[in-house]
Amino acid sequence: MPERLRVGVLASGRGSNFRALVEAAAAGRIPADVVVLVTDRPSAPALDIARASRIEAVVVDAKHHPSREAHEKAVIGVLEERRVGLVCLAGYMRLLTGPFVGHFAGRLLNIHPSLLPAFPGLHPHRQTLEHGVKVSGATVHFVDEGVDTGPIVLQAAVPVLQNDTEATLSERILAVEHRLYPEAVRLFALGRLEIRGRRVHIREST
Ligand code: GRF
Repeated sequence: MPERLRVGVLASGRGSNFRALVEAAAAGRIPADVVVLVTDRPSAPALDIARASRIEAVVVDAKHHPSREAHEKAVIGVLEERRVGLVCLAGYMRLLTGPFVGHFAGRLLNIHPSLLPAFPGLHPHRQTLEHGVKVSGATVHFVDEGVDTGPIVLQAAVPVLQNDTEATLSERILAVEHRLYPEAVRLFALGRLEIRGRRVHIREST
């Protein structure tokens, strides 16, 4: 039997998407194991989730590395040592350079709380409210060298309500993120995602 997919998650903060992936894997909803959490922040709350779930957590503190490249090399080392087949960014607050993205090409996913290509980058909920759109949502995409520009795997729409604040909108979108990310990882783990240029083709299940 082929080995189950080994997933590494990179998170800098709260870690609720990390938790959603861990729970989905533990419940058998995705045929994969989350084997390591890597964070760049020693104080990231995601570390507590890893501890509680008995998932290995590694802090690769950018302060302890002389350059961005050196920091990324250290992260690659941690992930490769654990033979990770898929890397999921989940609120990882660092821009990744070409060599990192190239190293994990086709096996690096990110989740973003807007319907990309609308509102990429920082403060997507604020951008959404300021622009006045009536529908927003969440996007899981493969990562390329741009900011939130890679081929889109899955999207789900969420209405923007009249009285929404950044807090209420992000809470409503987050609930959708927690379903969407495990579903994207499930499809990846089943080998059903095929990148064709900018488009991601989802193969029928056999
Ligand atoms: C999520 O909204 C995710 O889409 C974005 O950063 C946030 C991370 O939240 N990339 P959490 O740390 O997973 O709770």
